[in-house]
Amino acid sequence: MPIPSCHREFQHPIASEITPRAVYEERRELLRLWAAGAAGATLAAWAGREALAEATRPGKLAALPGGASAVAGAMSLEKPTSYQDASTYNNFYEFGTDKADPARNAHTLKTTPWTVEVEGLVKKPGKHGIEDLLRLSAQEERIYRMRCVEGWSMVIPWVGYSLAELIRRVEPLGSAKYVEFVTLADKARMPGLGSRVLDWPYVEGLRLDEAMHPLTLLAFGMYGELLPNQNGAPVRLVVPWKYGFKSAKSIVKIRFTEKEPATAWNKAAPQEYGFYSNVNPMVDHPRWSQATERRIGEDGLFAKKRKSLMFNGYEAQVGQLYAGMDLKKLF
Ligand code: MTE
Repeated sequence: MPIPSCHREFQHPIASEITPRAVYEERRELLRLWAAGAAGATLAAWAGREALAEATRPGKLAALPGGASAVAGAMSLEKPTSYQDASTYNNFYEFGTDKADPARNAHTLKTTPWTVEVEGLVKKPGKHGIEDLLRLSAQEERIYRMRCVEGWSMVIPWVGYSLAELIRRVEPLGSAKYVEFVTLADKARMPGLGSRVLDWPYVEGLRLDEAMHPLTLLAFGMYGELLPNQNGAPVRLVVPWKYGFKSAKSIVKIRFTEKEPATAWNKAAPQEYGFYSNVNPMVDHPRWSQATERRIGEDGLFAKKRKSLMFNGYEAQVGQLYAGMDLKKLF
């Protein structure tokens, strides 16, 4: 059996890379007109040419209030990736392994009603309806650099609040050392579950102090709107100093444990995907270098890559969490 991998770089270039600039700009204008309800006839002529991008655009989502974050490091000054790119170039294997699959297939995900169950080593276990979770704390906008293990990156304005807000309320016991995130596995609605590429459900984990770090975000939205299904609706994790796969999508369970959780990618290929998965340009993936990255949407296919930064540029905020650890062994 081939080693499972989420390395599919260059196989499926995104719209902004394969579309000539003028056509791309014109299409953006069409999208704008479409949103304003004025482009009906013209759009018909485009059907098929840009079928994926047009058909999968989730349309207008309810606005999510979000003030600027006061958390140090939560607002990147870099230009955000376009919404179009961020919502059509995704990893969400429950909906297929092609980058375009989640945008094409995730409309089947049913996000209401939705509950997240908190269990394990906490004083206050229980089920939380998504509406209650949304209201639990003030929403903030956070512009985070995201770096995927595959060697590409994006800059995304997320909306949510620090996971620590929820963790404090459920009161972890002294014996709780880790937090496990279990995501939805619904065979009827997720066509990717038919494949054995990963052991479902998709599970991720953090050490309790990583989960409590103010940068760790429980996200409900992006670009000021509710999350599109393909980006992990209705609630996902965002851990900006780690490779993207740590950011579990469509979470249904948060479990506090004493032992390190067995995570989906670590189970699939332990020599390639460690528990920590901190962005580290000095530790190569066994099959490719992690020293550089390609910023989605910003550069052409042949543009120079940029250097990856230790902890994805968040070293000042999170470096102390790993003081004294051998990050070559604990990758
Ligand atoms: N969560 C679930 N449930 N299933 C997945 O396949 N893929 C991960 C992560 N969370 C994944 C997931 C990977 S590999 C990445 S890079 C990010 O989601 C991608 O998030 P994005 O599509 O919003 O950029």
